[in-house]
Amino acid sequence: MGGGSSGFRYIPFGSGRRSCAGVHLTERLMKYVLASFLHCFEWKLADGEGGVVDFADEFALLIKKKRSLIAVPTPRLLARPELLA
Ligand code: HEM
Repeated sequence: MGGGSSGFRYIPFGSGRRSCAGVHLTERLMKYVLASFLHCFEWKLADGEGGVVDFADEFALLIKKKRSLIAVPTPRLLARPELLA
């Protein structure tokens, strides 16, 4: 992820000598976790979200979404047990 010796370009896992020992495992697992969420659930925006994802951001220590995204998962595999096997 770069950032030279400080590692301050990418800090969800901390930085420097005491940074997260699980960073590489986690980075590899994240795509499978995301894929499992997409596979196992239908996702809808919560009521009041206006049906549109608001991508506005704001700058703090990190750039983050101005408004949190509230997405509602509904299990999609329970009605089709053969997909769980
Ligand atoms: C989304 C997942 C994770 C996040 C966001 C995360 C974040 C962090 C953060 C912020 C620290 C403190 C770093 C610091 O003090 O500067 C830390 C420490 C640590 N993490 Fe994680 N972590 C994650 C997953 C994991 C996993 C999966 C493992 C092990 C399999 C792990 C093992 C550790 C260990 C052993 C430390 C202590 C490192 C030390 O003090 O030398 N982490 N983590």
